[in-house]
Amino acid sequence: MARYAYVNGRYVDHREAHVHIEDRGYQLSDGVYEVVGVRDGRLIDETPHIDRLDRSLSELRIAWPVSRPVLGFILRELMRRNRLRDGLIYMQVTRGVARRDHAFPSKPVKPALVITTQHRKRAEADPGQGVAVKTTPDIRWARCDIKTVALLPNVLAKQAARESGAFEAWMVDGEGRVTEGASTNAWIVTKDDELVTRQTDHGILAGITRHTLKSLAGALQLKLVERPFTLAEAKKAKEAFITSATSFVTPVVKIDGVPVGDGRVGPTARRLREEYVRFCASGEAVT
Ligand code: PDD
Repeated sequence: MARYAYVNGRYVDHREAHVHIEDRGYQLSDGVYEVVGVRDGRLIDETPHIDRLDRSLSELRIAWPVSRPVLGFILRELMRRNRLRDGLIYMQVTRGVARRDHAFPSKPVKPALVITTQHRKRAEADPGQGVAVKTTPDIRWARCDIKTVALLPNVLAKQAARESGAFEAWMVDGEGRVTEGASTNAWIVTKDDELVTRQTDHGILAGITRHTLKSLAGALQLKLVERPFTLAEAKKAKEAFITSATSFVTPVVKIDGVPVGDGRVGPTARRLREEYVRFCASGEAVT
């Protein structure tokens, strides 16, 4: 079956899809992106993802490449062409093509829009065995709230984790506090049964899965506290887990080789994953 990508106004064969070598995303990482999960042919949490894209664009003063309704149309058309039922959609907007110069182009250029899809196995409510994480210093910049394609610290962190046999990297700031994962938000359940995840500020990405899960946790009457937690606290926690559009809610059973709790998937992470997968299947929206 042919696989299509959307590139600047055209649906093209994925193998032939290309952008110009002077695209500022390629040369300067001058662009932003979104990853949206797809379940049963429906985009999960579409509105908050597109709102976040809008925010990332405006923080970097990049114009919308197409109108918001047109983007919605293109996403659906690409899903239709690629027969995407379960998986994810990746969209990227860069400032466009211009002669290389760090400053913005002096004449307006058209932002570049690229969209691809990936088929993935439909997420199960059962969390499986959980995953291990490896910690690494958070060496990123001071605007991690912007979802930019400048991901080199995240790439290096994830690679270090994978080389050590861990699934995800947890980044730790200068004060010993876990900020977030290389591509996920980080959570713990304390001995007092408090659900803790870092507050959203410029230090982390405001995850859409995180936001939805906050509301689902509220409905389950779980006590949620948004504050930084240290690595030492995480190692003593009852449970830990990560959230993202691609990992949903995935329990963390080991941090730097140390088992979390009894080293098995705990009841809170299990319950929250079940709730989140149910939410995805239902097509509901959280406000
Ligand atoms: N990553 N933190 C970081 C640094 C991320 O890159 C992501 C998402 C998240 C979770 O955000 P959300 O729940 O909206 O997916 C947190 C995507 C999936 C990626 O880069 O592939």
